[in-house]
Amino acid sequence: MTDLTRRTFAIGAALLPLLASPVRAQSALPMITVHKDPNCGCCGAWVDYLKENGFSVKVIETSNLDEIRARFGVPAALRSCHTAEIGGYVIEGHVPAGPIKRLLAERPQAIGLAVAGMPDSSPGMDVPGAKDSYDVTLFGKTGQRRYARFQGRREVTR
Ligand code: CU
Ligand code: CU
Repeated sequence: MTDLTRRTFAIGAALLPLLASPVRAQSALPMITVHKDPNCGCCGAWVDYLKENGFSVKVIETSNLDEIRARFGVPAALRSCHTAEIGGYVIEGHVPAGPIKRLLAERPQAIGLAVAGMPDSSPGMDVPGAKDSYDVTLFGKTGQRRYARFQGRREVTR
């Protein structure tokens, strides 16, 4: 091996894990566990939406959601109707699939993502004709920031 080919080989080997990781992230999403009230219709619609978008979903019916949110560290102002766990993160409310997948790929230091309240145009709400836009908020122990902005199921800005 000349010096040059040896170096090319070394760079190629170093790139391999980088090239492999996005493929792996897409083909094997971790299971998402959704805590929801048994009588919540929009929660069930969000679960169906997740399945349509490639997630395997485990549902835990509970009426103790406030206790779960307190345990998981979901800030009061970001609360919604259901609380989920995936890959070590918490997902609160009607969060679209795209930001969840991005969260799992980027793995920022955070507790998780939330869509506060229940915006009419968010996945699982789907009020006909609703055009309101809403934030997907990344939250942690020490702060929050906008992670994505959506109108319906379409991302409008970051
Ligand atoms: Cu809801
Ligand atoms: Cu819900």
